[in-house]
Amino acid sequence: MTRLVHLSDLHFGYEHAGMVESLLACVNRQEADLVVVTGDLTHRARPDQFAAAADFLSRIKAPLLAVPGNHDIPLYSLMMRFTQPWAGYRRSIVADLSPAMRVGGVQVLGINSVDPFSWRRGALRNGVVRAAIARIDPAAMNIVAIHHPLQQAPDAPKQLARNAGTALAMLEEAGVQVILSGHLHRWEAKFLLGPGSPARILQIHAGTALCARPEDPPNEFAVLEFSDDNTLFVARHHARNGTYDPDGIAETSRFSRVDGYWQSLD
Ligand SMILES: [Fe+2]
Ligand SMILES: [Fe+2]
Repeated sequence: MTRLVHLSDLHFGYEHAGMVESLLACVNRQEADLVVVTGDLTHRARPDQFAAAADFLSRIKAPLLAVPGNHDIPLYSLMMRFTQPWAGYRRSIVADLSPAMRVGGVQVLGINSVDPFSWRRGALRNGVVRAAIARIDPAAMNIVAIHHPLQQAPDAPKQLARNAGTALAMLEEAGVQVILSGHLHRWEAKFLLGPGSPARILQIHAGTALCARPEDPPNEFAVLEFSDDNTLFVARHHARNGTYDPDGIAETSRFSRVDGYWQSLD
């Protein structure tokens, strides 16, 4: 069994400061094989915000894989956004914007979906998608980690990233089995299997782990357990009353992969 923790949208600089330590304790309690962070580590890509995010990540005991979100490049400073968009992220978090890592039975493929010229919406560049596909491990469960969703419900509050449909088709054709994303600040999993129909890719959007935006749903993170018999158990951990506690599981889901297609077991 391989256990992943999925964190997204930490938004240091606009975070629930009182929630940080309890999130860290709950994440470390999982003893995960890997912690995946799908972007928006900071709120405004400022040095102090990157420093806070880096300090938080440095205290996670498990190996770590992170990809940037749109909030991790400057928004208001157009000069910086267009000439040095990744300077802060690379200096404080990690130089590789699309890292890959094999742990246990899973291969995680990071994809950078942030576009300085389309700040909120993002874009999937074919070359970046192809580079991820080249690192697919046929012997593993292949999981893409990306900030922007490649598919979303019709009432989603944000526009789908440019070229998302093409990228999703490319990844599906290449054999990717799971996509972990964020950006929407809301949970989505089962719906994306399709209305009653199985799918080759299971997409899971985690909400925001720490952002203090008042209109957001409760803060959350996900724990995913991949078993050798091609089943996946997902636990959605919620913060309650301003803190995370080990018993704060709002929802669990089970999925099975049969003949290359995911099905809900619930
Ligand atoms: Fe976000
Ligand atoms: Fe975002």
